[in-house]
Amino acid sequence: MVDLLLGLQWGDEGKGKIVDVLTQSYDIIARFQGGPNAGHTLEFEGHKHVLHTIPSGIFHPTAINLIGNGVVIDPVIFKKELEGLSGFNIDFGKKLLISKKAHLILPTHRLLDAASEASKGKAKIGSTLKGIGPTYMDKTGRNGIRVGDILANDWKDRYQTLVEKHTRLLANYEAALEYDLEELEKEFFDSLESLKRCQIVDSENYLHQAQKAGKKILAEGAQGSLLDVDFGTYPFVTSSTTTAAGACTGLGIAPNTVKEVFGIFKAYTTRVGSGPFPTELFDENGERMGKVGNEFGATTGRARRCGWLDLVALKYAIRVNGVNQLMMMKGDVLSGFSTLKVCTAYETSEGPVAHLPFDLSDPSIKPIWKDVSPWKEDLTAMTAEDQFPANFQLYIDFLEEELETPIKIVSVGPDRKQTIFR
Ligand code: IMP
Repeated sequence: MVDLLLGLQWGDEGKGKIVDVLTQSYDIIARFQGGPNAGHTLEFEGHKHVLHTIPSGIFHPTAINLIGNGVVIDPVIFKKELEGLSGFNIDFGKKLLISKKAHLILPTHRLLDAASEASKGKAKIGSTLKGIGPTYMDKTGRNGIRVGDILANDWKDRYQTLVEKHTRLLANYEAALEYDLEELEKEFFDSLESLKRCQIVDSENYLHQAQKAGKKILAEGAQGSLLDVDFGTYPFVTSSTTTAAGACTGLGIAPNTVKEVFGIFKAYTTRVGSGPFPTELFDENGERMGKVGNEFGATTGRARRCGWLDLVALKYAIRVNGVNQLMMMKGDVLSGFSTLKVCTAYETSEGPVAHLPFDLSDPSIKPIWKDVSPWKEDLTAMTAEDQFPANFQLYIDFLEEELETPIKIVSVGPDRKQTIFR
């Protein structure tokens, strides 16, 4: 049996925190896509920890954490992640498994990402510059190098061929990048050893056996549905399938073995990087959300753009993923606003629409707002639903009705303990 956990907006919904909270109910946490562009923040017992590639169940004493075939791994960042966890006494050889089919991010993938972004000028994606796009391009272009390849003797020839292709591509970009490939390669090859501290496995087979043995698996997504390469705000998206289907291709699990689909959203909306964002705020409300919500990228430190909740986009994400349980994060950040709004439809050149239009960048698209009653009370110390202020309860009820999906968890702060089950 597999449950899925997905972000429903533009990422940064708080997936890491919720996976960490839910891990006690699962035997295996399996990350299925993305790479070190993700930053999953976990807070507990006074620790604050950001994970990039390693699944968010790693702090649980017994859960197995698996990095699936759909993930792209930068060994240099991975090594640092392992080192960052050294104080936690984690037996990686036992608890952390890596798919042989996961693709490697090479130093030249990172360079290509930087060169490609620099060449786009104003049209840049706002990539995290971790080499994600070029690595997935090599995967689908059938040139990539997989973790399992490094166990073979002749893989360095294939590495060399690929790097030569990359250096030719880099030379074609107008703005020349300065880089010391020898230095980057030294770091890369040294870091490869860190992968071998974990079990490198045929992950789909491992998961099939686990399913047969009745183990409970939680598939952990990264980024969010609106960054999905097919269903997101293309081309301002990432290069993987962040939606439910990505869990099947990124882990090798069959769709008919998926049970619950948990969808996480923030009580407002944020986006980091470029691209359309109809409910974005450029006023003191947006500023306040950013400040109170500490809306800075966990990977890049960039300030996130903030805006009111967009129900058009959220309903779309719920449908694309088949979400049957919602988790609402950061309602506490909205305490004390004098006005609160949600977007229920868009005004377009063809009249009002309640579905996500093909091109969200169309300047004629304007949100149609509904005012909701604000609340003043601080929610962060609340431990049960019956402590919620009436207007916050009304906000939850309104959203459940609009979204036709129950909100099962309300998070009122970053710590594990600030999680209310309903
Ligand atoms: P890339 O995946 O690094 O190429 O970035 C593509 C777009 O996705 C950029 O707008 C990034 O800011 C955004 N993005 C990638 N990963 C994350 C994430 O984990 N959270 C939020 N945005 C992300």
